[in-house]
Amino acid sequence: MAKKRILTGDRPTGRLHLGHYVGTLANRVRLQDEYECFFIIADLHVLTTRPEKEHLLETHHNARQIVLDYLSLGIDPDKSTIFIQSAIPGTYELNLILEMLISVPRLERVPSIKEMARDARLETLPFGLLGYPVLQAADILLPRAHLVPVAKDNEAHVEVAREAARRFNRLYGQVFPEPQGLIGDVLVGTDGQAKASKSLDNVIYLTDDAATVERKVRGMYTDPQRVRADIPGQVEDNPVFIYHDAFNPDSAEVEDLKARYRRGKVGDVQVKKKLAHAINAFLEPVRERRAHYEAQPGLIEEILYSGNRRMRREAEETMRLVRKAMGLMRVETHFSLPAQNAYSPGLVYC
Ligand code: TRP
Repeated sequence: MAKKRILTGDRPTGRLHLGHYVGTLANRVRLQDEYECFFIIADLHVLTTRPEKEHLLETHHNARQIVLDYLSLGIDPDKSTIFIQSAIPGTYELNLILEMLISVPRLERVPSIKEMARDARLETLPFGLLGYPVLQAADILLPRAHLVPVAKDNEAHVEVAREAARRFNRLYGQVFPEPQGLIGDVLVGTDGQAKASKSLDNVIYLTDDAATVERKVRGMYTDPQRVRADIPGQVEDNPVFIYHDAFNPDSAEVEDLKARYRRGKVGDVQVKKKLAHAINAFLEPVRERRAHYEAQPGLIEEILYSGNRRMRREAEETMRLVRKAMGLMRVETHFSLPAQNAYSPGLVYC
């Protein structure tokens, strides 16, 4: 039986960090053999808040970095298809069709839209930003994906994609599987804010070197009540321990540190040292793989070139099914059709 499919991806606005790892990348790495995977570098989505050419040009460099981020985590480009959104004509085509199936009030209820407008300091809402989840639905439905591993902030977008698939299938016949979201965990920021995010500058990047990790961990927010190492500290909701749970595989060590922390028997400095060590142990093979791939000139271009080709073929097949299901008019000469009517003159609709 054919494997089910995953589609997910990232906007090329910067490097990926541990928050992305916990939110979605870990699931992608884990599922890459079980599913046929399509990873999209969503440069058109960047235009929804940043249409200026300078930002588009920045996506070139960022896209390369993101592909390297994927490879460094162990995503195998021979098994998975990594491609650029804007290089796939089917994206624009399906986007327009799905725009007819989702209402404006529905999109106005998607909370992330207003947040993105606010974060980008936009005075008015661009039509395309309101349509962000519809474009994302086009990404997801184009390879007829079954599963969409995303972070929590994208959950509502996947819901729009599910609705678009249902509505399309009801109106025109079954073409799309209803895609399932697979929502990862949310990682707190190193500063204790609810979310690790580039714009808050509270993240550890996959590309941070060992010294940077040590510095960032040393500066991490911890139990603010604990002014001395010999008074009992709080483990729950403490970012340092949340990161230990996420990145320290030595659970006996973590449990021991927690127990001593609660009793005032271990200092923050010590707990943080162990955490920096654990994160660096996690990142070390990632750095090595990255260096290995980075040393191969032209590799990223090759991966994207063949990924784009592969996705374009897939998109053409889906759009053929879409047009057929919808009964969209295609006017052809008999001569371009299979042989049976090859000699009758004129045009046909099909
Ligand atoms: N919206 C995603 C983000 O927050 C990027 C993205 C675009 C995406 N198209 C997608 C994610 C399709 C999953 C599936 O960066």
